[in-house]
Amino acid sequence: MGPIEEIAKRRTFAIISHPDAGKTTLTEKFLLYGGAIQTAGAVKSNKIRKGATSDFMEIERQRGISVSTSVMTFDYAGTLMNLLDTPGHRDFAEDTYRTLTAVDSVVLVIDSTKGVEAQTERLMEVCRMRNTPVIVFINKLDLEGRDPFDLLDELEEKLSIKVRPLSWPIGVGATFKGVYDLYDGDLRLFEAIKTKREAEAVQVSDLNDPQVDKILGAEAAATLRQDVDLVNGVYDPLDVAAYRAGQLAPVFFGSAFNNFGVREVLDTFVRIAPPPGPRETDQGTVRPEDPAFTGFVFKIHANLDPNHRDRVAFLRVCSGSFKRNTFYHHVRSGKKLRFANPTAFMAAQKTLVEESWPGDVIGLFDTGNFKIGDTLTSGANLNFRGIPSFSPELFRELVNKDPMRSKQLEKGIRQLTEEGVAQLFTQQPGNKKIVGCVGELQFDVIRYRLEHEYGADCAFQSIQAYKACWLTSNDPAALQEFIRVKSMQVVQDKDENPVFMAPSAYMLDLERRNNPAIEFHFTNEFKTLQHA
Ligand code: G4P
Repeated sequence: MGPIEEIAKRRTFAIISHPDAGKTTLTEKFLLYGGAIQTAGAVKSNKIRKGATSDFMEIERQRGISVSTSVMTFDYAGTLMNLLDTPGHRDFAEDTYRTLTAVDSVVLVIDSTKGVEAQTERLMEVCRMRNTPVIVFINKLDLEGRDPFDLLDELEEKLSIKVRPLSWPIGVGATFKGVYDLYDGDLRLFEAIKTKREAEAVQVSDLNDPQVDKILGAEAAATLRQDVDLVNGVYDPLDVAAYRAGQLAPVFFGSAFNNFGVREVLDTFVRIAPPPGPRETDQGTVRPEDPAFTGFVFKIHANLDPNHRDRVAFLRVCSGSFKRNTFYHHVRSGKKLRFANPTAFMAAQKTLVEESWPGDVIGLFDTGNFKIGDTLTSGANLNFRGIPSFSPELFRELVNKDPMRSKQLEKGIRQLTEEGVAQLFTQQPGNKKIVGCVGELQFDVIRYRLEHEYGADCAFQSIQAYKACWLTSNDPAALQEFIRVKSMQVVQDKDENPVFMAPSAYMLDLERRNNPAIEFHFTNEFKTLQHA
C-alpha cells in the first residue's frame, strides 16, 4: 500500500466529555465493534475515583492506565482508527487540551439528563481554536433526560456551533422506544437489545405507514411524525463540508451502556470524518502526503518506574513516514536521534512499530531530550504551531522545605513541567518559582512526585493571581516600560517570555485599558491566534 492509501484509511480522533457523561463506556463499545477487545469491562476507567483526592496510589494507578491506553488502534469497516485517550478528571484538563492538538476530529458525549456541562464548554472552545470537526452523541436516553429540542438549542447556544440531528429519539427514559435514523429512514427499536448485541432495524419507507403505529403505538408514532417534520423544517440537510470545517455538528441520540445508537455513530464517523490533514508550521503548511517525515510531541509520561528514569514521548506523525532505527532531526536541540523501540499501545499490550504513517501516534522511549511541543523531522528546521500552553487557573508559589535538596527540587520541577503536569513561571530577581495548574489535585500530584521521584520536600503557598497573560507589543519600549513598572507582577515562562500575573479581573481590565500598545494573551501561542 502506498502513502496516499495509508493516509486515506486513517482516522485519528478523541472521545471527549464532561466526567461521567459516558466517554469510557462509548470508548469500550467502539473497541468492541472494532474487535480490539472481546468483552465489556475490558477498558479501565482512567478516572480518579471520587473521594480519592488524597489517595496517591490512585493517581499512580491512573498514570499507569493512561500510558497503556494513550492510543487505541483498531480497524472498523476497512478504516484504521487511532482513538486517543484523554484524562477522566477535570484537574488534568490541560492534558486533554494538548491531546486535542493531535487529533483530526472528535466525538463529544453529552449526558441527556444534564445537557451541556462546564467541561463540555471548555473542551469545545479548544476544538474551535483549530476548527476541529465534532460529532455529538447524546447519551443515556434510557434515563429521564431533557427534551431533545431543548438539548439541541442548548448545544447551539452554549457551544456556538450549528447542529444537525441524524437520528431522533422516540420517547425518553421509561417511554424510550428507540431511535429513528433520519439518514436511512430506519426505525431502531430499543427493546431488542436486551438480548442481542445491537438493536434490530425496521426499514420504513414512509413514516405515515400504519405499520409504524403498530410498532410504536399510535401516540408515540404521532409524536415521532411531528418531531421529524419539525426537524426537517428547522435544520438544513447535513453539509459534510461545513462539518469538516468545524462549523456544523451532526448529532446522534442513544445509550452507550445499552450499546444503543453506537453503530450509527461509528458508521457515520467512518463515512464523513476527515483523514489526516495539513498542519501549520512556522515554515508554512506541511501536508501528510509530503514525502519528508515530520511529527510533534504532544504528551510525555515520565518516571513510571521510579527505578529507571524512563520517559515515553508521544509523537503524532504529520507527514512522510517514521521508520524504526533511523536518525531524525530534533529541531529544538539540533541533535540527531534514533529510536530502536518505537511503540504502539493497545490496552495493556505494546507492539514494536517498524513504520508509521501520518495520523499515527507512537510512543518513543526518551532519556530526557523531549519537551511537549517539540518537532522531529527528517532534516527540515520547522516547528509545528498549535500546541499552546493555556493560562492556568490556580497559582501557588513553590517553597523549598529542605535547602540541602534544592538541586533535586529544581530538576524535579523542571522535568515535571516539561512533562506538562503544570506550568512553571519564574520571577527575577530572586528566582521565585510560581506553579500554575488547572486543578487543585495537580498540586498534590506535584508534591507527591517531587518527594517520591526526586527526594525533594516542598510546600505550596497561596499567591494572589487571577490569570497569566503572555505579553507582546509592536512597541518594544512600551513593553519594557510596562515590565519595569510592574516588575512585581511580571514573571517569565519556561521560554523566558514575559508574562503578566494579573491579580484580579478588575486589574487585568484596567491594565489593558491603560496600556493599549500592549497585547495580553491567554495562551502562549499568540502568533497563531493573531493570524487566526
Ligand atoms: P466518563 O468516562 O465520561 O466519565 O463516563 P463513564 O463511561 O465512566 O460513565 C459514567 C457512568 O454512566 C457509569 O456509571 C456508566 O455505567 C453510566 N452510563 C454510561 N452510559 C450510560 C447510558 O447510556 N445509560 C445509563 N443509564 N448509564 C450510562 P457508574 O455507576 O459511575 O459506573 P459503573 O459502575 O457502571 O462502571
